[in-house]
Amino acid sequence: MSHSTKDEKTVKLLDHNYDGIQELDNPLPGWWLQTFYWAIVFAVFYFTYYELGGGPDQWTELKHDMAPIEAAQAKAKGQGYVDEDVSALLTQGDRISAGKKTFAEKCSSCHGNEAQGQIGPNLTDAFWIHGDGKPGAIAKVISEGVPDKGMPSWGPLLPRAELLSVAAFIVTLKGSHPAQPKAPQGQEYP
Ligand code: HEC
Repeated sequence: MSHSTKDEKTVKLLDHNYDGIQELDNPLPGWWLQTFYWAIVFAVFYFTYYELGGGPDQWTELKHDMAPIEAAQAKAKGQGYVDEDVSALLTQGDRISAGKKTFAEKCSSCHGNEAQGQIGPNLTDAFWIHGDGKPGAIAKVISEGVPDKGMPSWGPLLPRAELLSVAAFIVTLKGSHPAQPKAPQGQEYP
């Protein structure tokens, strides 16, 4: 006795007969149909959300997921500057005065005693050649420098904490209107 003989007892044999070939009414199993119908329901929501509703594509999702990882990696390597790295120091008087001291020793020769600009640009106005003048962007250009324009890369020369202090000091100078400012250079970022 084979399996099929037993099954044939429980399922219905259909009436029609094609050249002696008969068909069993053998419906798909319930679990299979359930999966199939739920897949259709899922597809409707999926299509509506991602195709019609402008849901994020895979690159956007990847970028979103990678952002905190990349930030953590940059931080672990001691590279990369986010605005908060600098702006967190603005309330710490000792860090600002440390930055002021570094500026007097290492930067004023080119940027002027009051950062009003000399060989290098005025750092107290709203005009920036590199970046948008936000705290993180200022720290970045200090770190990387602009070697072919005469701005040294301070990243390898200053400890990170000192570099952040001098960046924070520069942030405090915004709008200080020193005497004899150098003419604005770059683009205005109010
Ligand atoms: C040898 C001269 C020199 C020294 C020293 C120097 N700079 Fe500069 N710096 C420049 C020049 C020149 C530029 C403009 C580069 C350009 O035109 O692209 C510049 C640009 C900058 C900028 C970007 C300005 C902008 O408009 O985007 C910042 C910020 C800056 N310097 C900060 C510093 C700090 C902080 C120090 C000290 C740690 C320092 N610089 C030391 C010459 C110097």
